[in-house]
Amino acid sequence: MGQKRILVTGAAGFMGSHLTDSLIRLKHRVFTVDDLSGGFLENVNPKSQFTKLNLTNTNKTKRYITRIQPEIVFHLAADASEGRSQFMPLDCSKRNYLAYLNVLVPAIDTGVKKIILTSSMSVYGNQKPPFSEEMQTKPVDIYGISKEAMEKATVILSQVHKFHYVIIRPHNVYGPRQNMADPYRNVIGIFINRLLEHKHFFIYGDGKQKRAFTYIDDCTPYIVKAGLENYSGEIFNIGPSEAISINRLAKHILSHFVANPENPPKNLRPVHLPERPVEVKDAYSTNDKAKKLLGFKKTITLGEGIVRTVAWAKKKGHQRFRYVKGLELVSKDTPRTWTDKLL
Ligand SMILES: NC(=O)c1ccc[n+]([C@@H]2O[C@H](COP(=O)([O-])OP(=O)(O)OC[C@H]3O[C@@H](n4cnc5c(N)ncnc54)[C@H](O)[C@@H]3O)[C@@H](O)[C@H]2O)c1
Repeated sequence: MGQKRILVTGAAGFMGSHLTDSLIRLKHRVFTVDDLSGGFLENVNPKSQFTKLNLTNTNKTKRYITRIQPEIVFHLAADASEGRSQFMPLDCSKRNYLAYLNVLVPAIDTGVKKIILTSSMSVYGNQKPPFSEEMQTKPVDIYGISKEAMEKATVILSQVHKFHYVIIRPHNVYGPRQNMADPYRNVIGIFINRLLEHKHFFIYGDGKQKRAFTYIDDCTPYIVKAGLENYSGEIFNIGPSEAISINRLAKHILSHFVANPENPPKNLRPVHLPERPVEVKDAYSTNDKAKKLLGFKKTITLGEGIVRTVAWAKKKGHQRFRYVKGLELVSKDTPRTWTDKLL
């Protein structure tokens, strides 16, 4: 494959920055955008052509896309705070569904060949796991609804306007560059950031809820492959199929910190808070399709992934948690970690 003009949105974020690095290594011409609301300039690959842009702005996004005319778009920009989306429904929907259409419409209009949409496992809602791609989507939260809408818009517009697409549904990706200062999401990052400060961390509910965690290096290559090779009209779950409870995850991270000889935190334990409204109990997927068609393989165990992530986090040092200025809705069910800024 020759050099392609590729746009990566959300490229200052965790997954978008790793993806950009891979595309640059493959010698593509990569354009990157991000409004830095959740990402960091230091994450952006300097060999890409970066523009700071808020994709909720329809006119500015249209001008930008019309100027760069991408052949392939990897769309990762999002408000990915699933738990917060019930308290920020407007912002979440604008940053997800509206921003995506703002990218999609001028991209189609200028002849885009392929769109790779980073969706989410949240579209499955609280059906019985493991989730497989053939299941109907049944989201139960605002974030999941926005991702489902983005998926459906992709399918419909591709039927009418004839472009290729692939939809990726990753699960609980973690690793270096994850925003540790986000108090609303990234459970592994939050736990580590609190431990770096020698402080207790919080678990919502009884901690028995199960998730499957994906180290970033076991995710990026498959997004690249799905985007650059001849896959079209496909949906892929990307991630391991083994799930663990949040309690066990907490134990894992804590024991890694305690076993570490330099300055171990003492007497720290998770503190349980009420569960978050509409949080899905168990969420993990099958990866049979990704294994079969993309050659997906889990190469990094959770233990090894945590060792690598903690090493990165220690180098970076504790990050002050950054709260949004105000939630759109507050109720008695709003987690106290957010209203009382407990982190
Ligand atoms: N990390 C995960 O576990 C996970 C799991 C499933 C799906 N996803 C999806 O993958 C994508 C990347 O996730 P991530 O973990 O890297 O999140 P991230 O927050 O690190 O990256 C998202 C980036 O989008 C940017 N952004 C947000 N709104 C924007 C706007 N209006 N205009 C321009 N930029 C904007 C943010 O500044 C941020 O840098 C998201 O679409 C997310 O929904 C992530």
